Amino acid sequence: MFILNPNKKDLSQHSFIHFFLYPRTTFYSLYFGLYLSQLTLGAFAADAGNLYNTIFDVRAGEKYFDRQCSRCHGIDAKGDDEIGAPDLTGRLRRANTTAGIFNVLRNGVPGTAMIALNPEVPDSLAWQLVAYIESLASDPANINLPGSPTRGRKLYSGSTDCAGCHMIEGLGGRNGPDLTSIGERLRPEQINSALLRPNEKVTPRWWTVSVRDQNGNFYQGLRMSEDSFSLRIMDVNEELYSFSKDRLKEWNIDKSSTMPSYQGKFTDSELEDLVAFLFSLRNKRSL
Ligand code: HEC
Ligand code: HEC
Repeated sequence: MFILNPNKKDLSQHSFIHFFLYPRTTFYSLYFGLYLSQLTLGAFAADAGNLYNTIFDVRAGEKYFDRQCSRCHGIDAKGDDEIGAPDLTGRLRRANTTAGIFNVLRNGVPGTAMIALNPEVPDSLAWQLVAYIESLASDPANINLPGSPTRGRKLYSGSTDCAGCHMIEGLGGRNGPDLTSIGERLRPEQINSALLRPNEKVTPRWWTVSVRDQNGNFYQGLRMSEDSFSLRIMDVNEELYSFSKDRLKEWNIDKSSTMPSYQGKFTDSELEDLVAFLFSLRNKRSL
């Protein structure tokens, strides 16, 4: 919980905005310093709606949690496999916004052991529970990875062809997904398998379509969109084409990835560096 945020600049900017929105919280923030900023920031970043997120609210939430929730989720909130109560200290599966957590608490998860809060519990206490749960969320940016993001960045932009297909912050190609905040979408092991086994999971957007029109001309490109009547593709030169299906001689969809596998093309430690770099790419606002 006592994560020191290396990104001091972002932290102070947030706290500054925070002051105007939540003078009360900011007062405590000043008082409790970095520790509290960390707590309030989490809530603020996801949703400005929780007014019950001071250190006292978090403590009140924790107290209630210990009494009513820990028998399933564990006193450390790490979950209980036997009961099927999930770990609440990492990314939540059902509730990924502040309001989302509130809704899970208020409504429960129908058909599971997770029942709704007693209707007599006031909203203020429900929000305090939310504040407590959010204070548990370990910052994924602090996961310790073996690789070096700095070396990974050099690999990415130096000796590889990644940028020919992928964009990061507006620079690069459009023949693959934008990687600007890939660290938010994929866990390190998923990034690793995206590099080694690109064909494992290819969303339809990245399928390849080959088309022959009435005049016998041949086109090939990534599947931008498709409905019953039309088909839009983008070729390797990022040119867009749109076709009416009833005027095509034939078309064919290849569901494999256009991304080459990098299995054997990097050493293990290079691969670790690349994964560490890609995992470090995330929206600054979510820090
Ligand atoms: C009787 C056991 C039990 C109790 C008591 C219980 N939970 Fe749960 N909780 C569960 C189970 C099981 C799930 C998973 C439901 C599902 O998604 O299938 C869950 C899910 C959740 C989730 C969603 C997690 C996610 O990944 O999105 C939150 C948040 C949560 N519980 C918080 C609480 C809080 C706070 C309390 C106390 C007020 C509480 N739970 C009490 C069993 C319990
Ligand atoms: C010829 C184009 C091309 C090249 C070169 C390429 N990629 Fe990709 N990449 C793609 C496409 C298309 C996808 C989406 C389909 C898939 O999941 O394989 C993708 C997917 C990914 C994903 C998963 C993204 C997501 O949102 O799930 C990552 C991470 C990735 N590439 C990283 C890299 C890195 C790092 C390199 C260089 C070492 C690289 N790619 C080289 C085209 C390319």
